[in-house]
Amino acid sequence: MTAEAVPMRAPSAVIHPRWVRVTHWINAVAMLVMIGSGWEIYNASPLPLFPFQLPKSITLGGWLAGALAWHFAAMWLLVINGMVYVTLGLATGRFRAKLFPIRPRELIADLGAALRGRLSHDDLSIYNAMQKLLYLGVLCAGVVIVLSGLSIWKPIQLQELTALFGGYDAARYVHFFAMSAIVAFLVVHVILALLVPKSLRAMIVGK
Ligand code: HEM
Ligand code: HEM
Repeated sequence: MTAEAVPMRAPSAVIHPRWVRVTHWINAVAMLVMIGSGWEIYNASPLPLFPFQLPKSITLGGWLAGALAWHFAAMWLLVINGMVYVTLGLATGRFRAKLFPIRPRELIADLGAALRGRLSHDDLSIYNAMQKLLYLGVLCAGVVIVLSGLSIWKPIQLQELTALFGGYDAARYVHFFAMSAIVAFLVVHVILALLVPKSLRAMIVGK
């Protein structure tokens, strides 16, 4: 077969630009470290928030000081990477184009389709209403967990911020519930990524 006989295919458009993919995977690593070390901090707390412990095997850091070291190291990665992603998301118009508008009617229709296993994934460059809502929601949970984390890290220096959460103790609960929301998102998110492998491929190679 000669080269001429091979039909020229237009190079398919990039679904996720490189900056989205790089910041997404850095965020995934930073989040896993924050979750694992946060669970170890939770277990080690002399004043536990809840009357249960998390399995030691899924925590990170070994003991309180080790976990705090991991938590405060990955914090920088999480925050700087998150700021890059949000700045570029706003500046390039990606957030506006991909995450908005979210229409209640579409949300209900897409939820129904999803529950019946009929949600279309033909065009990965367009998010359905459920994806938009979940991605926007986890972005907000990310902002809340960082702000509540800062307010329990520096409750004196950042007392206005701590007060905004209703004080130190309340900020600890907010921090924990934001973690729970992120973990719940992550479980669903990873299952869906594995069920639609081409979406995982697009988040790795771009298309
Ligand atoms: C800027 C980001 C963050 C900062 C400054 C921060 C700071 C802190 C601090 C100071 C503590 C110790 C609280 C105590 O002594 O009881 C803590 C605990 C914890 N963190 Fe974070 N954190 C951040 C992000 C995260 C993230 C992203 C997660 C998980 C998704 C997370 C999960 C937890 C958990 C589960 C605890 C234990 C809760 C408790 O028992 O009070 N943190 N964090
Ligand atoms: C570690 C396991 C993870 C895997 C396998 C994974 C996989 C993926 C995949 C395949 C996509 C594209 C999906 C699509 O087309 O809808 C995606 C997008 C996304 N993921 Fe994850 N992810 C992981 C962790 C996380 C974490 C920890 C967060 C946040 C807490 C997160 C937040 C997002 C967001 C916001 C998007 C949309 C990004 C954009 O379009 O700008 N992911 N992820």
